[in-house]
Amino acid sequence: MFERCYDSPVANITPIRQRPQALEFFAGIGLARIGLEAAGFKVAWANDYEPDKHAMYAAHFNDGPDHTYVVGDVGKVAAADLPSASLAWASSPCTDLSLAGSRAGLAGKESNAFWLWVNILRDMEERAPEVVVLENVIGLATSHGGEDLRSAIRALNDIGYSIDLLSMDARRFVPQSRPRMFLVGTKNPPAEDERSLASELRPDWAQNFYGDESLRMHRAPLPEPPAFLLEGFGKVVETMPMDDERWWDADRTNAFVRSLSPTQRERVIQLRKSAGVKYRTAYRRTRNGVPVWEVRADDVSGCLRTARGGSSKQAVVRLGNGRLKVRWMTPLEYARLMGAGDFNLSGARNNQALFAFGDAVAVPAVEWLASKYLMPLLNGTLGSATRTEVLASAR
Ligand SMILES: C[S@@+](CC[C@H](N)C(=O)[O-])C[C@H]1O[C@@H](n2cnc3c(N)ncnc32)[C@H](O)[C@@H]1O
Repeated sequence: MFERCYDSPVANITPIRQRPQALEFFAGIGLARIGLEAAGFKVAWANDYEPDKHAMYAAHFNDGPDHTYVVGDVGKVAAADLPSASLAWASSPCTDLSLAGSRAGLAGKESNAFWLWVNILRDMEERAPEVVVLENVIGLATSHGGEDLRSAIRALNDIGYSIDLLSMDARRFVPQSRPRMFLVGTKNPPAEDERSLASELRPDWAQNFYGDESLRMHRAPLPEPPAFLLEGFGKVVETMPMDDERWWDADRTNAFVRSLSPTQRERVIQLRKSAGVKYRTAYRRTRNGVPVWEVRADDVSGCLRTARGGSSKQAVVRLGNGRLKVRWMTPLEYARLMGAGDFNLSGARNNQALFAFGDAVAVPAVEWLASKYLMPLLNGTLGSATRTEVLASAR
């Protein structure tokens, strides 16, 4: 249970505010932790079964004895071994839920780890955190016609949590299109007000779940999030000399251009002719069994993915002043697009870093949720906006 701030009985001493503790399930390289800690949480414990991700996490956080990272299957985690905490965050695997995956759903080989997490929360009994968050792809909402999400909500309801359902795109904070779903479960749901109904974070598809009377749901009053970014990729690009060996040679660049559709090729030709330098991201797809490149029209990156076998890596296209150059996106660019430009990348192999960041959660999305929702929910200040703010956000 989160200890609330209280007045010190000793005059002139500023009360020390206890940072609420958090557990980080499916922690990967810890981008959820960075966002949570920026909002004032203390992540005390983490778990993931990938040693490569743990190595990056350990290099970045350089933890002392006040933090534990258990490398191993979540199915082997015993509730009794967990520290008490106010929050449990779970970015559970989405491999079987994303359009890019098998669509086997929450019963899939990897995504079924969600149920192992629920079992742990159940086994924690009265020590279970007051608030829990599940982060996942939007595909969870449509998996098996919505039944997967319905049964996930029901499972959390059964162990005492009322659920709020948000959809948030990291593009509100970073120049990357990365829509994700956040289920916020709480044992003490807040009262609704005008902002609960107005929030654009609860899209049409979520209404089916709020309208299902067999589920225990709530809609927290929230401030409106920042608007979508329309540009900014060019600003996160790692500058490098034109003769850097990472730029592709002429043969490879010509093959890239030849694979573009006529409309895309025309776009690229026009951008190459234009004055000044622009950057675009490009993504390789297979069309009718043939690999083709697609270049985004805007100054925003497509969704980063895990680079399994190298097939989902993005490329950076530099265009303008009559020149065209192409190369793979770098780990630093991946990190910046996830809002983690300061992440310690020393020691990480190229593919190890791309794999890890492609799988991760965008830091500023976590920070926004944690500072505007989770922390106020825990300290009892959620919804304590003035009437002017409420009316402004409802308009
Ligand atoms: C969507 S990623 C979450 C990444 C994390 N949020 C981050 O910032 O890096 C899901 C993570 O779950 C881990 N995972 C999948 N199945 C697991 C299991 N059975 N036990 C422990 N970890 C698991 C994967 O290794 C992966 O890092």
